[in-house]
Amino acid sequence: MASSLNEVDDKIPSSLIDELQFDMDDDQPMIETSGAEKSLSSKASAQQSDTAEEVWRTIENNRVRFPMNRDDHREGLKRATTFKSPPGSEAGEVPTTDDSSKQSTPTSPTGTDGGGRDGESSDKEKAGRGSLENKTILKPSPSVGTSLLNLVNEGTGAKANGAENGSSSMMDEAWERLRSSFVYFQKKPVGTLAAVDPSAEALNYNQVFVRDFVPTALACLMKVPDPEPEIVKNFLLKTLHLQGWKKTIDNFTLGEGVMPASFKVMYDSFQEKDVLKADFGGSAIGRVAPVDSGFWWIILLRSYTKCTGDYTLSEKPEVQKGMKLILNLCLSDGFDTFPTLLCADGCSMIDRRMGIYGYPIEIQALFFFALRCAQQMLKQDTDSNRLIGRIERRITALSYHIRNYYWLDFTQLNNIYRYKTEEYSHTAVNKFNVIPESIPDWVFDFMPLRGGYFIGNVSPARMDFRWFLIGNCIAILSSLATPAQATAIMDLVEERWEDLIGEMPLKIAYPALEGYQWRIVTGCDPKNIRWSYHNGGSWPVLLWLLTAACIKAGRPQIAKRAIELVEQRLSKDGWPEYYDGKKGRYIGKQARKYQTWSISGYLVAKLMIENPSNLAMISLEEDKKIEKPRLTRSASWSCSSTLFPRISQVWQFSTFSQLLGCLNKRIIQILVRRCSLFHVSFTSLLLESLQVQPPL
Ligand code: GLC
Repeated sequence: MASSLNEVDDKIPSSLIDELQFDMDDDQPMIETSGAEKSLSSKASAQQSDTAEEVWRTIENNRVRFPMNRDDHREGLKRATTFKSPPGSEAGEVPTTDDSSKQSTPTSPTGTDGGGRDGESSDKEKAGRGSLENKTILKPSPSVGTSLLNLVNEGTGAKANGAENGSSSMMDEAWERLRSSFVYFQKKPVGTLAAVDPSAEALNYNQVFVRDFVPTALACLMKVPDPEPEIVKNFLLKTLHLQGWKKTIDNFTLGEGVMPASFKVMYDSFQEKDVLKADFGGSAIGRVAPVDSGFWWIILLRSYTKCTGDYTLSEKPEVQKGMKLILNLCLSDGFDTFPTLLCADGCSMIDRRMGIYGYPIEIQALFFFALRCAQQMLKQDTDSNRLIGRIERRITALSYHIRNYYWLDFTQLNNIYRYKTEEYSHTAVNKFNVIPESIPDWVFDFMPLRGGYFIGNVSPARMDFRWFLIGNCIAILSSLATPAQATAIMDLVEERWEDLIGEMPLKIAYPALEGYQWRIVTGCDPKNIRWSYHNGGSWPVLLWLLTAACIKAGRPQIAKRAIELVEQRLSKDGWPEYYDGKKGRYIGKQARKYQTWSISGYLVAKLMIENPSNLAMISLEEDKKIEKPRLTRSASWSCSSTLFPRISQVWQFSTFSQLLGCLNKRIIQILVRRCSLFHVSFTSLLLESLQVQPPL
């Protein structure tokens, strides 16, 4: 591991700082730490950070309000690209903080003469850097989007009935709110706040989370008529820069490739400029490891490249290096006997103790997706070729493992139910020595005759039979799931609609842990009580993933039904973070309102269903070199899907759309009429994407 990391370092000259990284070395390495490290800093600095929090609150309450109307919104959207100043500030400036916050700034011993203008850093500034925390109060950056209260009271509240007024007004509202959550660094948009809810304590929801930004980024890339790729590029570069920091928590140095869970833009009043503060898990509740951040970063880099055709970003030496560091971290040799990645609890979107330690499907599917994206983006050279070889071998082993051992359908459940135990040698059928008595009762009722899914976790004597939405959808998008498996997952969603979709899409996990299981597995977590939050709660953000997976599997109608449900309530309810209850009927007990990814998740779902070719940005074709599993068949494997695999699965959707684009509508009508073998869902997908009337 160490040697391969060094290899990467040797290859890339550290002096290569690109102009696109806009003042990368201007931000101070500020890693949120606690415990031993915090105790080393002086009492004074602790008081200062309290003051900083107070200042933050004052600013939130007193900040200049920006009126939000439709025209403003349009202007604002342009502003995001051109960095025009908001009303009330000088040309080219970002909104200013109030005076009181300025007064609270201590005078620097070295003084300041206006250094810290964009792209410049004076000697005085540099001198002040070493002891920044002791000398400077960090204030919330004035360039953070907008006023919180304003948004709720004046802005888009009038459109509370978005769904009633039609989905287009809901879309307008969503765009406005999304733009209002933009976070700026040196006047350039670099991400979005996790939530803009003035009624709840900010905690870390005032930060830019890597995973939360993904749907925002996709919405910006898919935006019509003018996509906004710039914020995505800035985000990728800023987070890459944060990866380069030395990351230490309690004297322990984290792996070089680790990407932050989140970051925040603060204003350094001494140097009069924005600085970044990153959290690599050291400040997160429970100190969880953000394993998914690096994977999402690679996946997003591919989406950006695919959408813009701008290969210059992914081919930059720094970007290539960042990618290699992430890959080295997860491809390093260990004691493993499985190709899956060993993880701690809470290392993904479910960032609390929920019994997803070990080899959770959520991470394995993302791992596979990221490996395949990296495979496309790594530039060929002697060093990369070795890495590409390792990636190929891991992809093969990982897909075999997941497709065979994580897959559960009626037939496979029956096999496990009849497993013999204590089998020795490589001929064992029950490879992980799973004791059939450990199968929970609910699975027998839940498992339909038609359908199947990848279970939550597989390790010695342990199968976590829970359903996890992200893992299953990502498996479809990355083509980790075979076309037949993707079909079966869609069948399951249809068959278990009430459980998995309910009244408000979508269940993050099913079923909930209750009673003693909840006590043992969650550690009595009151936020994760049954059917709430990560423990069987319903998360609107997941709508975009379901939609993408449905389109890929040739079943857009499923997504449409889910979108319709969301449109009935989401805007009216104030875009909550999650819903509670078996059917997702109640706004989550501790859910934030105006949760950014609930907003952007809806936008992406709509943009994809309206233009399914957007799918290409977040989906990979099947890798024909990977061997398909020889699995048992349950109902969803036989009949039409086996005999006549749906065309949209066999052909990559985007390729197919391109072909269709070349044909005229009349020919397609004739084709559709003739091809009675085509599956119904394929036919309607075809007609929908072309807006052709079905033949009578
Ligand atoms: C919660 C979620 C996490 C998300 C964060 C910010 O902690 O569990 O997945 O990234 O909020 O929205």
